[in-house]
Amino acid sequence: MTMKIIMDTDPGIDDAAALTMAINDPEIDLKLITAVAGNVTVDKTTANALKIVHFFGKDQEIPVAAGAKEPLIKPFEDAARIHGASGMEGYDFGDDYGEPIAKSAVEALHDAIMAEDEVILVPTGSYTNIALLFKQYPEVKSHIKEIVAMGGSISGGNMTSIAEFNVFTDPDAAEIMYKSGVPIVTVGLDVTLKALITPDTLNQLKDMNETGKMLYGLINNYNDVTEAGHPMHDVNTIFYLLHPEAYQTKDLWVDIQTSGPAIGGMVADIRGAYHDGKTNAKVCVDIDAAAFNQWFLDEVSHMK
Ligand code: RIB
Ligand code: CA
Repeated sequence: MTMKIIMDTDPGIDDAAALTMAINDPEIDLKLITAVAGNVTVDKTTANALKIVHFFGKDQEIPVAAGAKEPLIKPFEDAARIHGASGMEGYDFGDDYGEPIAKSAVEALHDAIMAEDEVILVPTGSYTNIALLFKQYPEVKSHIKEIVAMGGSISGGNMTSIAEFNVFTDPDAAEIMYKSGVPIVTVGLDVTLKALITPDTLNQLKDMNETGKMLYGLINNYNDVTEAGHPMHDVNTIFYLLHPEAYQTKDLWVDIQTSGPAIGGMVADIRGAYHDGKTNAKVCVDIDAAAFNQWFLDEVSHMK
């Protein structure tokens, strides 16, 4: 039985890798892609999503809708320093990659979710589109099996000492999502900073096939990197869907800081002491990083 998923995304190089996995894995039925401002402006994230869909010849099968151009309240701040001016530097996708559908992201999300009994929502950018969707169409919540969200951290941030980029970009949207009552799997920096594409893995991609060449070009231009490798943050949402056994998780109550110097921080009730035992997230706290690298290579080896 294939998993029906919808990705809300801000490509972004690691988003592009996540879209690549979702589009190509036979266990996943990617129904819709919605774009949001984040790594770069929403016109660029929308174009980048279209480029990936077109690269795999799925223009007629997977619609792309443009979404929010700025956070709900907080001023927009991009991450072009990490992903390049276009948001996806390193590979020439050409100029003929089509157009987004006419519907807005919120309308497209509403229609796609209501058409299914159970769909999995996979956000890999800020959660602005999802917050707007829940505010305008709360009835969609009962049609969402779970949200598998890249974002947040309970062990340190990458924008401030405690705030992770997706939550930091729109903390008010993150608060709405985490208070929505929809089951959430938090795929945060706690595991994504361990899911590194090592230099050896990257070199194996280079001559593997056209997809490997594309990913090699993008990842080589991805400025989120250490000597140990490049963290493929967003790809973890797809690896989790396909191999949840590779992750250790804890059911916790998490709150989002929406103001002050801790803005964008994720505060976890790690002892379960302050919310009467209630939890609102399954937080990924560890990962089999070797399995992630091997899976990444295996997946790409079956692609064009
Ligand atoms: O903090 C990492 C997240 O921020 C990833 O989704 C990356 O694409 C950027 O959006
Ligand atoms: Ca992203």
